[in-house]
Amino acid sequence: MKQWWKEAVVYQIYPRSFNDSNGDGIGDIQGITEKMSYLAELGIDVIWLSPVYDSPNDDNGYDIRDYRAIMDEFGTMDDFDAMLEEAHRHGIKIMMDLVVNHSSDEHQWFMESRSSKDSPYRDYYIWKKGKDGQPPTNWGAFFGGSAWQYDEASDEYYLHLFSKKQPDLNWESETLRREVYDLMTYWLDKGVDGFRMDVINMISKDPSYPDGQTQGTGYGDGTPFFFNGPRIHEFMQEMNREVLSKYDTITVGEMPGVSVEEAKLYTGEDRNELNMVFHFEHVDVGNGSFGKWNPTDWKLTELKTIFSRWQEGLEEEGWNSLYWSNHDQPRAISRFGNDSPEYRVRSGKMLATLLHLLKGTPYIYQGEEFGMTNVAFDSIDQYRDIETLNAYRDYTSKGLLTHDEIFRGIHERGRDNSRTPVQWSDEAHGGFTTGTPWIEVNPNYVDINAEAAQKDPNSLFHYYRQLIALRKANPLVVYGKYELLLPEDEAIYAFTRSFEGEAWLVLCNFSGDTQQRDLPYDVKERVIGNMEPIEPFTLRPYEAQVYKL
Ligand code: NOJ
Repeated sequence: MKQWWKEAVVYQIYPRSFNDSNGDGIGDIQGITEKMSYLAELGIDVIWLSPVYDSPNDDNGYDIRDYRAIMDEFGTMDDFDAMLEEAHRHGIKIMMDLVVNHSSDEHQWFMESRSSKDSPYRDYYIWKKGKDGQPPTNWGAFFGGSAWQYDEASDEYYLHLFSKKQPDLNWESETLRREVYDLMTYWLDKGVDGFRMDVINMISKDPSYPDGQTQGTGYGDGTPFFFNGPRIHEFMQEMNREVLSKYDTITVGEMPGVSVEEAKLYTGEDRNELNMVFHFEHVDVGNGSFGKWNPTDWKLTELKTIFSRWQEGLEEEGWNSLYWSNHDQPRAISRFGNDSPEYRVRSGKMLATLLHLLKGTPYIYQGEEFGMTNVAFDSIDQYRDIETLNAYRDYTSKGLLTHDEIFRGIHERGRDNSRTPVQWSDEAHGGFTTGTPWIEVNPNYVDINAEAAQKDPNSLFHYYRQLIALRKANPLVVYGKYELLLPEDEAIYAFTRSFEGEAWLVLCNFSGDTQQRDLPYDVKERVIGNMEPIEPFTLRPYEAQVYKL
């Protein structure tokens, strides 16, 4: 079925790093408003706004203290309202981040909950007795250490799948669920257009709380007991019935460990749950024995297998989201392309071509549109991300990885790669702030910045504009069926899209060498590409071409 959110292109803003309007070194809401015409020029339809709620910033806003207030550093509710109005004036919708697997430990609910076993808020969180002086289960937290924190006052532990300042909310409590639906309604009534839901497939936990298999870190893997847990679809359907069904929204659930089969249940049109999910399979390629901290090589065939499984799996039922990067992932060009001066723009265009020609709703992460790259800080003191800092401490102190080993992981895959400030110009600090930025700007801002890209008609920025325009003009790009070609090829990603008697061929060279292939097609017209083609089936390094068949 045709839907506006299938036709849309989403742009993610990580407010802390986007644009600082008041010189305190921290991006803010007025800074977003200032850039609305830039985003309109790019042609995007929806902004996914990472959290702007009041937060003590243990995890940069993914630890919310008050779901109905704006973080001081980001501005006021008036600033928010003005931004929303300005977005809507440009025809841009706002998708809020909804972080309700956990709150901050400084949220009123948690302070009440912790205050006494008899508090009416006690069961808003997950409290358990220990086992023989040990935590209730052996689960490790995603940000290191045990997933349980001992509370002396009540002699019980609370669950926190992330940091100990992010206690998990107890979705078994109907009252808690009502609170969540009310806060969602508050924002929708204000006029926001939807939600990106943080780790939403973790909200239903296996009530028996079993131990998990011990991992290299010494902790147990709890994920089988809370990824897509027993009541998850009941909760999602309830949320849809109580809130989402009453508004015209765009929704996407962030879901580590989700399979295609599960995704059909979350996104099938008659299921009344969500529009789409973010899976992690393609961004996890090349994970080592300690996940992203000791990465290994990956192959193009792995990427193709993953994308094709999702494309084919959700062809009839459900809908895909498409992304290369976000605030938790490294920069797309450094990760999947080639960030050398010679190939940065070309490979960026190739990656953009592939992603925007797959079937699904594409997401652009701030700075991706003009080709920002990873950063390689020398010292751990230059990093800010709690996940990176904790991993560095834990892996090196336990002797699991050496300083050099984990630094390779941090440089390749750490979250701060995407959190350095957006490089707006070649002015000091990339024009992000007149003050001192909360995290250093990537020194390559002198060459790589939005202003330079806007001025250059051959830039990545203008190429993204063309891709977005192509989507708007051609229903095939949105609704066409995907078919993979050359499945075994380690250099060329080739596929067709077809719709109502029309077919397009997409060719992307992921390698640094010229590649020639024989394909049984007569190409008609060239639709778009990152270089003037020489011959349809000969592709120079990182070349991408799209043809009508
Ligand atoms: C996923 C978010 O994208 C990430 O930034 C955050 O740290 C965790 N969820 C916890 O909220």
